[in-house]
Amino acid sequence: MIQIDRRHFIASLGGAAAVKLMSSEAKAEALEAYMMAQLNSATAGAGQAQPKKFPKAAEVEAQIETRHYRRGVGNLFLTTEPNGKVKKLQPMPARPAFLFFNLRMQQTSNHVLQSANRAMKTGMPEEIILACLLHDTVHALIKVDHGYWGAQLYGPYVPEKVAFAIRYHQALRFYEDKEAGYEYPDLYRNLFGEDYVPSPHIQADYKMLKSHKWYMEPRLVTVNDLYAFEPGVVVKIDPFVDIIGRHFKNPKEGLGNDGSPVAHMWRSMAIPDNPL
Ligand SMILES: [Fe+2]
Ligand SMILES: [Fe+2]
Repeated sequence: MIQIDRRHFIASLGGAAAVKLMSSEAKAEALEAYMMAQLNSATAGAGQAQPKKFPKAAEVEAQIETRHYRRGVGNLFLTTEPNGKVKKLQPMPARPAFLFFNLRMQQTSNHVLQSANRAMKTGMPEEIILACLLHDTVHALIKVDHGYWGAQLYGPYVPEKVAFAIRYHQALRFYEDKEAGYEYPDLYRNLFGEDYVPSPHIQADYKMLKSHKWYMEPRLVTVNDLYAFEPGVVVKIDPFVDIIGRHFKNPKEGLGNDGSPVAHMWRSMAIPDNPL
């Protein structure tokens, strides 16, 4: 049984203010990664100064049967807190517009707002800022292969480049591009295992992207993909409302009601308590 040093754990996440900004799901992931690292350093010999320790892919796989859920499931559909319960959701408006975001996508909102904020501060084009703002929001519905699901969810409503950036940021997260300012993240070493080899579809897409004229669109999403929470910084949606207005085509019937090929995906987030 691993003892958690609460203070050390909180400090490793950037302090109490940073922890406050994390969703309960992000906290659960962080705790798991922390415990895995502790376990590794305990086995490697306590008391010595250790270089960063990451699990092996096989250890990550061995964790599967310790959970009561699968990690690819959308975060609207469960709570990962031990003995936690899901909460009743706020009702949706009759014709939901993108600001749906506030009602069903809260779990990733801080992360994507911080990413969009960084893109805005570093002078990225509006399409990149919008892609950053949307890039992980589909986690509410589903997390596995989220770049592809996200691009599909937003495809009918955003410029093609934005959907492209959302789709392929997932693949490019696995590949370093130091020249563009992207290093392989420790978060992935913890989540997937340090010796993890990306799936064949990710490898194939990376190969395709390397010579694609839009390579930089998803690459810039990865560059701004912030998991380092800035303590005390809470970014609001307000600075992005004009960009959303210019580039996001809200259907007049409302998302989920427009009969588009993705309407059911929006409805699934609107009414996730329906048993069928
Ligand atoms: Fe992502
Ligand atoms: Fe992200």
